[in-house]
Amino acid sequence: MSSRQYLIAANWKLNGNTELANEIFAELQNTLVDNSIEVLVCPPALYLGGIQAKLQNDYQPLSDKLKLGAQTLSAYQQGAYTGELSGAMLKEFGASYVIVGHSERRALFSESNQVVAEKFAACLSQGLMPILCVGETLEERETEQTFAVIEQMLTSIVERNGVEAFANAVIAYEPVWAIGTGKSATSEQAQQVHKFIRQFVAKLSAVTADNIKILYGGSVNPSNAAEIFAQPDVDGGLIGGASLKSAQFKELCEIAKSA
Ligand code: 13P
Repeated sequence: MSSRQYLIAANWKLNGNTELANEIFAELQNTLVDNSIEVLVCPPALYLGGIQAKLQNDYQPLSDKLKLGAQTLSAYQQGAYTGELSGAMLKEFGASYVIVGHSERRALFSESNQVVAEKFAACLSQGLMPILCVGETLEERETEQTFAVIEQMLTSIVERNGVEAFANAVIAYEPVWAIGTGKSATSEQAQQVHKFIRQFVAKLSAVTADNIKILYGGSVNPSNAAEIFAQPDVDGGLIGGASLKSAQFKELCEIAKSA
């Protein structure tokens, strides 16, 4: 029996500010008194340093329970890459996780599986925990390509990073059609894909498959979370819209605690 802890991760996308972090920390300080779940907040990278300082100065008891992360990073370590932020820079300002391969990065910023695999490598080289996002579009689901698409996304990570790639990583299943649409996957749909992902990892390493957290993301909210989190291969959520409302985010953490 695995001892996987739930992880509730906030992906603010291009939203939020230091004040939102303050509201969330105030809301969570009584929820995270024990260590029964892990919580992660991924603000826009510019805010990481200020939010880290706020956490350490004003919410000391939370600071070893609540982690900070970034939403992307450069595939490069340093050099003439205008506008980029390296893993080392993000780490210096408090990030311990980085979301890689979010579907918005893939679709809107042309990140291919190869680029995502490089970014994943950049995380590992800095000791940052990548949260690899995988998921199919509606068209891919309707044409029964879901598993093939996800398998390709996972395979390209392994080709670049080796069979141990997922030993220090999180995977998030985020069906593109469920992101920001209010239409989440059903718990059965989520479980089916999560199981497929865990089986993929099991072919590389049974231990890693047992330990790796597989999050579900896509219109998670307090009314659908309990059913989704109850699935055997769902280990928490990657939360967009509902992470911007401190009361809802706290509720999601409470649901994970009792799941
Ligand atoms: P929503 O929760 O807003 O659907 O966003 C999900 C997501 O993309 C998290 O990374």
